[in-house]
Amino acid sequence: MEKSIIITGGAGFIGSHVVREFVLKYPEYHIINLDSLTYAGNLANLKDIEHLTNYTFIKADITDAQHILEIFQQYQPDGVIHLAAESHVDRSITDPLAFVMTNVIGTVNLLNAVRIIWKDNFEGKRFHHVSTDEVYGTLGVSGLFTEETSYDPHSPYSASKASSDHFVRAYHDTYGLPVVLTNCSNNYGPNHFPEKLIPLCIHNILNNKPLPIYGDGKFTRDWLFVIDHARAIDLVFHKGKNGDSYNVGGFNEWTNIDLVKELCRQMDKKLNRSEGISAELISFVKDRPGHDLRYAIDATKINGELGYSPSVTFEEGLSKTIDWYLNNQDWLDTVTSGVYQDYYEKQYLK
Ligand code: NAD
Ligand code: DAU
Repeated sequence: MEKSIIITGGAGFIGSHVVREFVLKYPEYHIINLDSLTYAGNLANLKDIEHLTNYTFIKADITDAQHILEIFQQYQPDGVIHLAAESHVDRSITDPLAFVMTNVIGTVNLLNAVRIIWKDNFEGKRFHHVSTDEVYGTLGVSGLFTEETSYDPHSPYSASKASSDHFVRAYHDTYGLPVVLTNCSNNYGPNHFPEKLIPLCIHNILNNKPLPIYGDGKFTRDWLFVIDHARAIDLVFHKGKNGDSYNVGGFNEWTNIDLVKELCRQMDKKLNRSEGISAELISFVKDRPGHDLRYAIDATKINGELGYSPSVTFEEGLSKTIDWYLNNQDWLDTVTSGVYQDYYEKQYLK
C-alpha cells in the first residue's frame, strides 16, 4: 500500500462518510478506522465497504494513551484524520467531563502518539484535525466566521473542541508537527444520529411525535451535506497548506423553524400526507442554555485556494436525506431502541 491512514471516529456520522470516500477513491491507501463504538458509533454505517481489502477496523478508545501508542506503532500511519469526539451540545451540558476526556485528552494522546512514531521525520506525514465552526461562538444578525475570527466558545462541547484546536496548533508551533485543521458548519445527511435536529425531526414525523423547537426557533445554522464535508476533508488533507485552518460551509443559512417547516413540507409530500399535517407537530420547548444565536461560515478561503464547492443544493441534499431515512427505517429502529429511550426521556420528557 502506498500510504496508511488512521481515521478516528470512522464509525460515526461524518467519519463513516469520510472512510467510505477514502476507501473507494484511494484503493492504494490502507484505511484504518479507529473507533471505540460509543452510542454514536455504528459499524452498520460501513456495511457496504467493510469487505474491501484496503479497509481495517480497530476498536480502541483515544483516551487510552498506551493502547493508542501500541496501535500507532503497529500500523505506522503516514496520516491521521481525527474525527472521534463527543459531538452533541446537549449532552455536553449534562456531562462536560466526558467531552474533556475524549475531545481534549483524546486529541493530545493522538498528537503524542504521532510525535513518537514520526520521530521528527515529517516527510509525507499529515495530522488533519476535524473541528467545528462552534469554536467561534455566536454571530449577531450579520457577518460570517472567517479563519481569523477569534475563538469564543460557549458550550462545554465547543470549549472542548476549541481546546483541542489550540493543542493541534501548539504541536505545530512547538514541535513542527505537520497539521491542517478544518472548521465546518452543521452537517446533515444519511446515518446522522437522531439526537440532532434534522434526524430527530424526521424520526418524530414518521412516528407522529412532537417536533421540539428550542426557544423561539429563530436560531440560525449553516447546513452542509455530509458528503460535501467528506470531499472537503479529502481536499484539505491532500492539498491544504501545512499549519493552516480552512472553514468549510455552503453559504446555506436557515432558521431552525424555517428548516423544520421545509422538512415537514417535503415529508408530507413523500409520505402522501395532507399538506401541513406534519407542521402541526411543531412544539416550542424550553431553550438550550447558552444557545448560540447564529453560525455562518465564510468559505472563501477553501473555495479560492483549493477550488472547493458543494456538489448538491440544500433542496436536493434534504430530499436525498429524507429518502435515505425512509428506505432505512431498520437503521433508525435499531439506533432508537434501548439507551436512546433513556436519553430522549431525560432530554425532552422530564
Ligand atoms: P458522531 O458523534 O456521529 O461520531 C463520533 C464518533 O467518534 C463515533 O463513532 C464514536 O464512537 C467515536 N468516539 C467517541 N468517543 C471516542 C473515543 N473516546 N475513542 C474513540 N472513538 C470515539 O460525530 P460526528 O457528528 O460524525 O462528528 C465527527 C467530528 O466532526 C467531530 O469531531 C465533530 O466535532 C466534528 N464536526 C461535526 C459537525 C456536525 O455537524 N455533526 C460539524 C463540524 C464538525
Ligand atoms: O455547527 C457545527 C455543529 O453542529 C457540530 O460541531 C456539532 O457536533 C453538531 O451537533 C451541530 O451542533 P448544533 O447544536 O448546531 O446541532 P443540533 O442538531 O443539536 O441543533 C441544531 C439547532 O437546532 C440548534 O440551534 C439547536 C436546535 N434544536 C436542536 C435539537 C436537538 C432544537 O430546536 N430542538 C432540538 O430538539
